Amino acid sequence: MTTQNPLRVLIVDDSADTRENLMRLLAFEDGIEVIGAAPDGRLGVEAARRGKPDIVLMDLTMPTMDGIAAAEAIRVECPSTHVVMMSVHDEPEALRRAMLAGAREFLVKPFGPDELVATLNRVAERRAADRAVAPVPATPGVQHGRMISVFGPKGGVGRTTVACNLAVAIRQTTGQRVALVDANLQFGDVGIVLGLKPTKSIVDLVPHIAEIDADLLGEVVSRHHSGIDVLLAPPRPEMAELVTADYLKRILGKMREAYDVVVVDTAPNFSETMLATLDISDRILVLLTVEMHTIKNTRLFLEVAGQLGYPREKLTLVLNRADSTGGIEITEIERALGHRVNARIVSDGRTTTYALNHGEPFVIANKKADISRNVFELANLVMMRAAPVEEARVAPSGISRLLPFRLMSRSAAAGAR
Ligand SMILES: Nc1ncnc2c1ncn2[C@@H]1O[C@H](COP(=O)(O)OP(=O)(O)OP(=O)(O)O)[C@@H](O)[C@H]1O
Ligand SMILES: [Mg+2]
Repeated sequence: MTTQNPLRVLIVDDSADTRENLMRLLAFEDGIEVIGAAPDGRLGVEAARRGKPDIVLMDLTMPTMDGIAAAEAIRVECPSTHVVMMSVHDEPEALRRAMLAGAREFLVKPFGPDELVATLNRVAERRAADRAVAPVPATPGVQHGRMISVFGPKGGVGRTTVACNLAVAIRQTTGQRVALVDANLQFGDVGIVLGLKPTKSIVDLVPHIAEIDADLLGEVVSRHHSGIDVLLAPPRPEMAELVTADYLKRILGKMREAYDVVVVDTAPNFSETMLATLDISDRILVLLTVEMHTIKNTRLFLEVAGQLGYPREKLTLVLNRADSTGGIEITEIERALGHRVNARIVSDGRTTTYALNHGEPFVIANKKADISRNVFELANLVMMRAAPVEEARVAPSGISRLLPFRLMSRSAAAGAR
C-alpha cells in the first residue's frame, strides 16, 4: 500500500467501542484512510453508497440491518467495494453466509492489529489482481462454448467418474471440440482416471494469466486418445491457492472461446473458486447418491443455488448408483429435495474399478455396459436440450413416510437461515 493511493476503509459496527478501537488502530497505519464509521447496516450501506470505500469492515450481528443484508446491498450498489466481515462467531455456517453475501474475508473477534492489517493487505492485493485480470469480456464475433460443471456438495459421489466419462461421451457422439477441466484444485484426480501422464497443469497458466490464448492453452492441456483435451489440476495441494477465483474464471472463459464444450470437474465445497465456476456455468449437473448425509447436503445446495439466483433449469439432478437406494423410492427423494431427478446412472463397481485400474474411461473400455449407456443418455440430455424436459420443481410433500427426511427438511431449512 502506498500513501499516494491509500486504501479507503469504512467501519460498520454497532459497538461504539469497537468503532473507536478500529479507528485508533488504523489511524497509525500507513496507506490506510478511514473515511467514516456507521452504527448499523442501513447507515453503513448509505455511507458506502456516498463514500465508495475500497473496503468495508462490517460487523455480522447488528440491529436494524445486519452485516449479511448490508453486504448483499453493497455488493449490488458498490460492486468495487470489498467487505470484510467481523464476528464473534467462527462457525462454518456464519462463514458460509458471509461468503454468499459477497464478503471477501472473515475476521473473528477479538483480533489484533497485525491480523487486521494482514487481512486488509490481502484484500488490497486481490483488488489489484482483479483490476489486472478483468473477467474476459464477451468478444464480439467469438463463439462461446457450452460449459457444464459436474458438482455435488458431498465428496465421493462420483463427480470425477461422471465428468471424465461424460466428456468422452460428448466427444464421441457429437465430434465437437471438447475440453475437460479439473477444477478440484487441491485433490484433482482426472489425470489418474484418464490414465494421463502428469505433464503441465492449470498452474502453468498463472504466470501468463493476462495473455492466455488458444496457442498457450494448446501447450498446457493434455490430449487424451479419445480426442478430448484435459486441463489438469495442480500436481500438489498447496499449489491450489495460486489459482484464485478470478484466475479460474478467466481461464474457463478462455477455454470456452477455444472449445465447443467445456466439462468441469469440481470440489465438494462452496469456496470462492467453486462459486465462481458454478456462476459462469451454463449447466450444473448436481450429483447425488442415496445416503442421508448426501441428500441433506444436496438439499442445502439447492437452497444456496436459489439464493444465488440460479434458474432451476440450470440444475440437472443426476442420481448416481440409482439402483442402490436401500428400498427408498426415487419419488420420495424428489419430494425431500423439492426437485426432479433428471437422470440416473446405475451402480457398477466391476466396470468402474476395471476402468479406473486401466486408466481408461468405461464409455470406451465397456461401451455396452448399462453404466456407459446411462452416461451416453446423460450426454444427449445435456447436449440436445436447452433445459430438462421434465419440470424441475416438485412440490415438497408434507406426508413423506420417511421420518428422517422430515427431520432433515427442518434442520436444512434452519441451516440456511
Ligand atoms: N455408478 C457407480 N458405480 C460404482 N462405482 C462408482 C460409480 N460412480 C462412482 N463410483 C466409484 O466411487 C468412487 C468415487 O468416485 P469419484 O472419485 O468419481 O467421486 P468424486 O465425487 O469425484 O470423489 P472426490 O470427492 O474424491 O472428488 C470411485 O471409486 C468410483 O469408481
Ligand atoms: Mg473427484
